[in-house]
Amino acid sequence: MKYGHFDDSAREYVIENPKTPVKWINYVGSLRFGGFVDHTGGLLLCKGDPALNRITKYLPQLPASQLKGHTLYLRLHTPTGYRTLSPLFVPSLQALDRYECRVGLGYSRFVSEIAGLRAEITVFVPTASEVLVEDVTLTNISSAALTLDAVPLVEYTHFDALKQFTNADWVPQTMQSVAHDGGGGRKLLAQFAFMNRDLRQTYLTANLPASSFETCRARFLGDNEYGTFADPLSLKRAELSSYQALRGDNIGALLLPLGTLAPGESRRFRVLLTQQEGSRAASLARAKTSFAAFETDAQADAALLTLRKFWDGYLGKLQVKTPSAAFDSMVNIHNPRQCFTTKNWSRDLSLYQLGFGGRGIGFRDSSQDVMGVLSSMPGEAKELLEKLLSVQKPDGSAMHQFYAFTMLASEGDSREQPERPDYYADDQLWIVLAVCAYLKETGDLAFLKQDLPFYDKKLEPIARQRGTVLEHLKRAVDFTKHDVGAHGLPLLGFADWNDTVNLERGAESLFVANLYGKALLELMELCGELGDDAQKQKYKRDYQQMRARVNEHGWDGEWYLRYFDHDGSAIGTHKNQHGKIWANAQSWPIIAGFASAERAQQALESVARHLNTKHGIKLSAPGFDGYDPKKGGVTTYPPGAKENGGIFLHSNPWVMIAETLVGNGDRAFRYYMQINPAAKNEQMEEYELEPYVYAQNILGDEHPQFGLGRNSWLSGTASWCYQAATKHILGVRPTYAGLEIDPCIPKAWDGFELVRVFRGTTYKVRVKNPEHVSKGVRSLVIDGRSLSGLIVPLFNDGKTHEVEVLLGGAEATSHPHAATSAPAPVRPSAIEL
Ligand code: GLC
Repeated sequence: MKYGHFDDSAREYVIENPKTPVKWINYVGSLRFGGFVDHTGGLLLCKGDPALNRITKYLPQLPASQLKGHTLYLRLHTPTGYRTLSPLFVPSLQALDRYECRVGLGYSRFVSEIAGLRAEITVFVPTASEVLVEDVTLTNISSAALTLDAVPLVEYTHFDALKQFTNADWVPQTMQSVAHDGGGGRKLLAQFAFMNRDLRQTYLTANLPASSFETCRARFLGDNEYGTFADPLSLKRAELSSYQALRGDNIGALLLPLGTLAPGESRRFRVLLTQQEGSRAASLARAKTSFAAFETDAQADAALLTLRKFWDGYLGKLQVKTPSAAFDSMVNIHNPRQCFTTKNWSRDLSLYQLGFGGRGIGFRDSSQDVMGVLSSMPGEAKELLEKLLSVQKPDGSAMHQFYAFTMLASEGDSREQPERPDYYADDQLWIVLAVCAYLKETGDLAFLKQDLPFYDKKLEPIARQRGTVLEHLKRAVDFTKHDVGAHGLPLLGFADWNDTVNLERGAESLFVANLYGKALLELMELCGELGDDAQKQKYKRDYQQMRARVNEHGWDGEWYLRYFDHDGSAIGTHKNQHGKIWANAQSWPIIAGFASAERAQQALESVARHLNTKHGIKLSAPGFDGYDPKKGGVTTYPPGAKENGGIFLHSNPWVMIAETLVGNGDRAFRYYMQINPAAKNEQMEEYELEPYVYAQNILGDEHPQFGLGRNSWLSGTASWCYQAATKHILGVRPTYAGLEIDPCIPKAWDGFELVRVFRGTTYKVRVKNPEHVSKGVRSLVIDGRSLSGLIVPLFNDGKTHEVEVLLGGAEATSHPHAATSAPAPVRPSAIEL
């Protein structure tokens, strides 16, 4: 079963059947002003924090057929009365003669045909604006004249998203709408909660005269709301009631008479929505100014072009051409778009993360997300890093989450069990990886000297301790160094990356041990760069110590263990009945350079044997079968779901990276392709989700619905798949000294090409693989000049340089940074560990 196709030349996915298994969405705008639009025109729009300033009412729990936040009706005048049509399919659900939803970069474009009319509707938030633009062109494609109206509609929510559901008296008592004259017969409908009347208001308008309007849902539907959105009774009368609702369920609907269209004739207009701060007069004036920017067709075209150019620039930092079209499509378009989205929304607002204030920005999540956008938006990445570092605590550990606009941070779900530790043992280590990746991408070492606060919820921001960015990083690893348990391994805290394994106080985490190892490698390299050899030696000793502990206590015979419980018993051993083997416990000792060549091979073989499935690598196996408060959240899921033996996609690229580190390009690529969402396009009866983004999880083979995807869009899978594909499979990695090129590709490839913009210089790289190896650079030539090693130097000249890479067998160059940027246990390292 298929619901659409990829149109890579337009950088769009085209949905051709509106009855997708679940809603498929696209993001517009940013966290500042934006949200998502679904493939039948539903809209969840917010300004700022989705919990605190939500604009449209989008209830994902309602059936797919129901109105969700927004629609556009068309109304045909017929000899027997008015006929209401839904060019977006929902909510009227008449069969369409044609339907397309083009999921573009920052916009969705609907093209549909019904009753002799073609509707083309583009929904987007222009770059840097706070206006939602719905650009509509209607064409009479019949052979007779058609008289019609358009009726755009939004349904509002109370700005306090949760209150909408928890107080059904207060909320409707406060919701108010007022109509303003927009000049020339136009209407501007203002909506606000009474307490915000003099603070901020939402405005809806069109650049056409409106003959009437409606702001009261009950009146619009008619018959005391026994009328429906599918066929509203008010649309059967000539005009809407033009009622200004001063309480109740508020909507905004405009009746826009379009007159008569001759065959072939078109009308183009725009529906515009914004929210503006200030007193009533000031916000109205601001709204008018904002709307004026998208008044004419030319302005709207220009705004869309600016958006396209933004994406040209964004994607232009890396474009690849390999023998695999499905790989290229993800790496060139869809994966970077998802990285942009996760950087923006973290885990806050999707069809699955509902943005009611439970999440905000996750410390570990955003530290990883940021690594997926570094080349395309280093400035924004740095801003996010500053925010993250500002919620690190003075002891080096970190608050688990924070709200981007208030900068209030919390301990996350750990608060639910006050007797347990209130920190997550991995959080602060991710920021070390993120900052070092930022430094390597930009060369902005001055950032290390920037002074930033540490978070202390008991103190006002002004009274908080401060330290340089470098000091923050040092405290991060120092926290872990001293926070160890019976085996000398890091304590688990409330949980590590796997939020759902919540063991009693005293449990230790092998995952954190490995992540700590990787963070130390990064800091050793950084100290080398800063010329601080004494500090580097200290970190080296810490690294060696943790490596020894992991290998002494953590090896189970065929794979590495995952945890030690509070009583010292191992979790992730063949002796366990459930949770015998865990994917992250195998990939991370390799990424950290802790595993010997032999153990690395064996651990990866065990992953292939015990955890891999045709839909991806399971997080662990077998799943726990029954709720066990001693293990925690993981046991709330049935076996095969989510963290309990499900295919948790975020962990898959770590295995790919580990495979490239041992030189297994075939398997790394196979693992990449088996979770490539584009490949699911033909498997929708089992998979169900958007094929243009990664999901967070797929049900594993212990579950009866093996292969069903869940929780698309906001997942660390985006950033890590992008890193696995670009830095490890294609092997193009930023380093302090230049761009390192060390691919690990399928043997069958003859080579590949890519263009990478790095520190202002464009590198055109051509890799040839005549001997059909996976890994090993035989020669590296830049602008006709041979280089030794794997690093093409920095030029800082803004020009384009040609790089020719020849892969080959025996004489291949060994990795000069093996123990620093990409530790390869199978090769000797530059730093003697
Ligand atoms: C979710 C969380 C992430 C966590 C993962 C595994 O994706 O957002 O922080 O690491 O689950 O539990």
